[in-house]
Amino acid sequence: MTRMPFKTFTLRERPDLEDEFERLAEASWPRFLRQKDALGYGQYWPSLYTTWADWQLVLVDGMGPTIAATHAVPLVWSGTVEDLPSSIAEILSRATADHESGRAPTVLCALAAMVDARYRGQGLSPVAVRAMVDLARVHGLGTLLAPVRPADKSAYPLAPMERYARWQNDDGLPMDRWIRVHARMGADILAVAPRTLLITGSVEEWERWTDLRFPDSGSYVVPGALQPVVIDRNADEGRYEDPNVWMRHTIE
Ligand SMILES: CC(C)(COP(=O)(O)OP(=O)(O)OC[C@H]1O[C@@H](n2cnc3c(N)ncnc32)[C@H](O)[C@@H]1OP(=O)(O)O)[C@@H](O)C(=O)NCCC(=O)NCCS
Repeated sequence: MTRMPFKTFTLRERPDLEDEFERLAEASWPRFLRQKDALGYGQYWPSLYTTWADWQLVLVDGMGPTIAATHAVPLVWSGTVEDLPSSIAEILSRATADHESGRAPTVLCALAAMVDARYRGQGLSPVAVRAMVDLARVHGLGTLLAPVRPADKSAYPLAPMERYARWQNDDGLPMDRWIRVHARMGADILAVAPRTLLITGSVEEWERWTDLRFPDSGSYVVPGALQPVVIDRNADEGRYEDPNVWMRHTIE
């Protein structure tokens, strides 16, 4: 199959493509994950489209349609595991604080990479990651940090992420396809981020977001969730923490 040549643009260069981020996000995340994050990333998200427009990328093919989009922000990171942000909200709050106090960023920190559903399974996801690496390099940053959301973890919701992240195929590469994409590009695993997002809602809201019923209190396996959703009927609350795996791309 011959592939169309594709081009990468920043949102600053192509503000007309802003709606594409939302379109791809809609088709990328389970519904419950698109609800309000109790850790508060939502208050910063709009700034991706203004303050951080130089760091949001769209990949379009020669004919025009959007193939993929990535979100990232630059920030100061000391290089230690202890200094990794604990959540998506903290990535954004730290980038904002660094920016406002004029501190020069040291790394580019990814927030999301999304391939349009029509283009998945064609080997394009490394191209999206490569685009972020190239963006970091252009800005003189030596590292791309990525809180990787393992694409196949939802099939193993009971496995601890610490173990799952190390599961390998016979060839020694990571079993998870998305961890594998990063690893094959040379990234190493730094740590598990146990709670990058926190989604809470009433039992009724959770039933609506998941099309499931939760008649008892307890832990439930939910499609698209990387670990169980915990339902407390007495408190009328469902709670889900989205775990990620921190990976580091070192840029020559
Ligand atoms: C995760 C995602 C970025 C992968 O993109 P993609 O274009 O479908 O993946 P690629 O075609 O580049 O393939 C990457 C790897 O996954 C494998 N893969 C692709 N589709 C697969 C499938 N349906 N089942 C199992 N493995 C699959 C590929 O074989 C490849 O591995 P290999 O190089 O070892 O052969 C994409 O599915 C997506 O946007 N998902 C929604 C958003 C998301 O989860 N983003 C990542 C977290 S931020």
